Amino acid sequence: MPPMKIILRTYTAADFEALYEIDQQCFGPALAYSRPDLRIYLNLPGSDCVIAEAAGKIAGFLATAHENAMGSIVTIDVLAAYRRQGVATTMLEESERRLTASGVRAIELETATDNASAIAFWQKHGYRKSGVKKEYYPDGRDAYSMSKMI
Ligand SMILES: CC(C)(COP(=O)(O)OP(=O)(O)OC[C@H]1O[C@@H](n2cnc3c(N)ncnc32)[C@H](O)[C@@H]1OP(=O)(O)O)[C@@H](O)C(=O)NCCC(=O)NCCS
Repeated sequence: MPPMKIILRTYTAADFEALYEIDQQCFGPALAYSRPDLRIYLNLPGSDCVIAEAAGKIAGFLATAHENAMGSIVTIDVLAAYRRQGVATTMLEESERRLTASGVRAIELETATDNASAIAFWQKHGYRKSGVKKEYYPDGRDAYSMSKMI
């Protein structure tokens, strides 16, 4: 099969409901954002959100925020049908480029300690574990803090 063609674009308010549904599918009810929380995160000062489309359909999105030189990954979501084809990597490279252009020098994130695929993804892209946040998620799960200098 030829490699999937991925088009990147920036989030607009009209995408909100689609992104909410994707987040529900990616994380399930225990960890997914509520509508009010997702709305807050997409509108934080210094927030940005890259959307990946394949054949005209949204395959995933990556939301970031930053304050001065410190950036953070809010969430990265790729629908199961589109995984392991470089969608997350393509979005991350674009988001890191944008954060760098905004003066960001370090990026931090949290990921559940039992999320092996996400941990492998972040490590492949140079993010390193910097600590554990106990009972970070609403269901009591722990998170790794991970970070990278860019
Ligand atoms: C984690 C996630 C974003 C990865 O998206 P993706 O588009 O499949 O990622 P890519 O295709 O760009 O993968 C790049 C690399 O990450 C690693 N990786 C990704 N998924 C993996 C998995 N299931 N198992 C092991 N390594 C994995 C691999 O090193 C992979 O490279 P390879 O395919 O050449 O082996 C996706 O699985 C997802 O949306 N999961 C649900 C939501 C989530 O957990 N988000 C992260 C929260 S912090």
